[in-house]
Amino acid sequence: MIDQIISEDLERIRSSLKGDLFAGKNVLVTGGAGFLGSWLCDVLLGLGAEVTAVDDLSTGRIKNVDHLTENPKFRLIKSDVCTFKRRDKFDFILHMAGHASPEEYQVHPIETLQTSASGSANMAEIARKSDATLLFASTSEVYGDAEVVPTPETYWGKVNPIGPRSCYDEGKRFAEALLMAYYKQYGLDVKIPRIFNSYGPRLREDGLYGRAMSRFIMQALKNEPITVYGDGKQTRSFCYVTDTVTGLMLLTTNQEARGEVVNVGNSQEVTILELAKRIKQITGCESPVTFHPLPKDDPKRRCPDTSKLEKLAGWKPQVKFEDGLKRTIRWFQTLNPATD
Ligand SMILES: NC(=O)c1ccc[n+]([C@@H]2O[C@H](COP(=O)([O-])OP(=O)(O)OC[C@H]3O[C@@H](n4cnc5c(N)ncnc54)[C@H](O)[C@@H]3O)[C@@H](O)[C@H]2O)c1
Repeated sequence: MIDQIISEDLERIRSSLKGDLFAGKNVLVTGGAGFLGSWLCDVLLGLGAEVTAVDDLSTGRIKNVDHLTENPKFRLIKSDVCTFKRRDKFDFILHMAGHASPEEYQVHPIETLQTSASGSANMAEIARKSDATLLFASTSEVYGDAEVVPTPETYWGKVNPIGPRSCYDEGKRFAEALLMAYYKQYGLDVKIPRIFNSYGPRLREDGLYGRAMSRFIMQALKNEPITVYGDGKQTRSFCYVTDTVTGLMLLTTNQEARGEVVNVGNSQEVTILELAKRIKQITGCESPVTFHPLPKDDPKRRCPDTSKLEKLAGWKPQVKFEDGLKRTIRWFQTLNPATD
């Protein structure tokens, strides 16, 4: 069953998408059991699409799509995106499979690179044979430790090619280059959103998989110390999941976005320390904030220039940071009834 917060949010996404461009369409969502992938599956099914989710469940969770398994228009295939084979033709491929948590991907650098490289090559071939639109989930990390902030798509990036984050950053950069080559050589309908930090219900919070936002929330809800890396002055821009998913859906069907890289994110920049303090305030917890060594190559600032997406698709983030944060905390509280 889907909970109230997610149902309301899905309704919000559906109401910002016009037309019936997905009704009756065959859509492949890689990484469909993950955070963003599972939201896309929900939205697509709500719009009348037939959805095949492929996921190796390395970082995703069955519980994200459990409520869909009875739906005859949905199927989940447990498979590695690098070796996935299918005779079906797809109209759209939303290629979300990837290792997105820095702590997790640094433990699995080879799998992270393979998923971006071989996985994207496999998806490009399936898309080419299907004459499908291929949306590839790239990342703000292609900009590395950006020197231009807010960062526009025209900035080429400052990435350490052999550093601890390179498996993710360079993997995504390779995939972008590969898919642009498919666009140029075969005219494949490729769209490349560069997604900035997104958050909301279903963001994984545990162990290596947790990201700063979900880790802080769970620490606050358990009254444990909130663990900030460095002095907390580094910034991130957090985009609520409904805005990210709406942006991805709008790009998928946008004809002018063919062969384009497009930032998807919220341009409200906050420091990590501010994030920790806001979470403390909203939850009313007594947790101390503790400071730990900053991981190598951690970007100092991250904030998108989103004017391209605004111009292309009339998209603007709708959810204020404060509201998204409160909704996310409420959702995490439902996972942890002891703190309700
Ligand atoms: N959430 C964000 O803030 C964010 C920001 C930038 C980019 N992205 C990108 O968006 C995509 C989705 O991110 P997310 O936050 O939903 O992460 P997630 O970890 O929740 O989802 C990724 C999914 O891909 C699956 N997967 C990984 N490797 C696979 C493989 N080889 N074969 C099949 N499935 C595989 C995982 O099991 C998981 O379900 C990722 O590609 C990520 O790099 C996300």
